[in-house]
Amino acid sequence: MTNKKIIAVFGATGAQGGSVARAMLESKKYVVRALTRDVTQPKAQVLQDLGAEVVKGDLNDKASVEAALKGAYGAFLVTNTWEHFSKEKEVCQGKVVADVAKSQGLKHVVYSGLENVTRLTNGKLEVLHFDGKGEVEEYFWSIGVPMTSIRVAAYFENFLGPFKPVKASDGDYYTLALPMGDVPMDGISVADIGAIVCSIFNSPEEFVGKAVGLSAEALTVPQYADILSKGLGKEVRDAKITPEAYEKLKFPAAKEIANMCRFYQMKPDRDIKLTHRLNPKVKSFSQFISENQAALKNL
Ligand SMILES: NC(=O)c1ccc[n+]([C@@H]2O[C@H](COP(=O)([O-])OP(=O)(O)OC[C@H]3O[C@@H](n4cnc5c(N)ncnc54)[C@H](OP(=O)(O)O)[C@@H]3O)[C@@H](O)[C@H]2O)c1
Repeated sequence: MTNKKIIAVFGATGAQGGSVARAMLESKKYVVRALTRDVTQPKAQVLQDLGAEVVKGDLNDKASVEAALKGAYGAFLVTNTWEHFSKEKEVCQGKVVADVAKSQGLKHVVYSGLENVTRLTNGKLEVLHFDGKGEVEEYFWSIGVPMTSIRVAAYFENFLGPFKPVKASDGDYYTLALPMGDVPMDGISVADIGAIVCSIFNSPEEFVGKAVGLSAEALTVPQYADILSKGLGKEVRDAKITPEAYEKLKFPAAKEIANMCRFYQMKPDRDIKLTHRLNPKVKSFSQFISENQAALKNL
């Protein structure tokens, strides 16, 4: 038996929850209860080997959430819009956790939220994967759950995946297409989120009831391109794409990403100084790229 506080971590087999679970295990201050729909998957086994309790938890099944949160001091919650792309589903999943946290008297929930863009812009701009999280934030606070929302900037990891530079058809260079105009875009490595969440759980008196915007740094598209050029050893140019052109690109989330960038151009509050205080080892984009040279070679 231990008298360490139990923190239930949703999404522990994924990027954000995985970062949180690992940082909490490393801190040795908490018992980590890692939740997954499939306790037999290899990622769940890895977490168990690192010292986590691995427990079944499905956000679409309230009874499993009730069982998974029993006896917990707190919980980290991330919901994954991209798995279903339904705002209603994401809101429903978030509210289930809020209701269970309320009825079981959890002392602190850290929720990976974002702004309700539709409400903030009076319906002028809709960003589905932000809006649902914004509604869930409001719900947690409205029913009186002690909750901190972390509003995470774009992952640096996106530059190795969905935002990666694309080889130009007319020469030996790559282009980086992000419709940000001249406005710097905040970013952070998802691997650095875990230590930040740990710091937040360590100081509930400072953070309960607040939304905290997380960013390692904010760079313009030419600045991101410059750093990528150095990492890649090939020229990367800003594609200078507009949101209007971006939303016409032929992939399913083009309009959603264009609208997200329109919202980013409105400079939502991301607190770089606080982010560095909460995790003094937070990486810059240059550091991130130099540590991920191998992934860039596959471009
Ligand atoms: N990419 C970015 O730049 C960025 C920035 C800010 C915010 N976000 C947000 O981050 C979220 C995605 O998080 P991520 O990057 O950590 O995703 P991820 O790596 O794909 O992981 C998704 C996690 O969600 C869990 N999950 C999905 N459905 C579940 C359910 N019904 N019940 C329980 N667990 C469930 C999965 O667990 P199992 O499969 O093991 O059950 C998995 O661990 C998105 O909503 C996105 O909007 C992303």
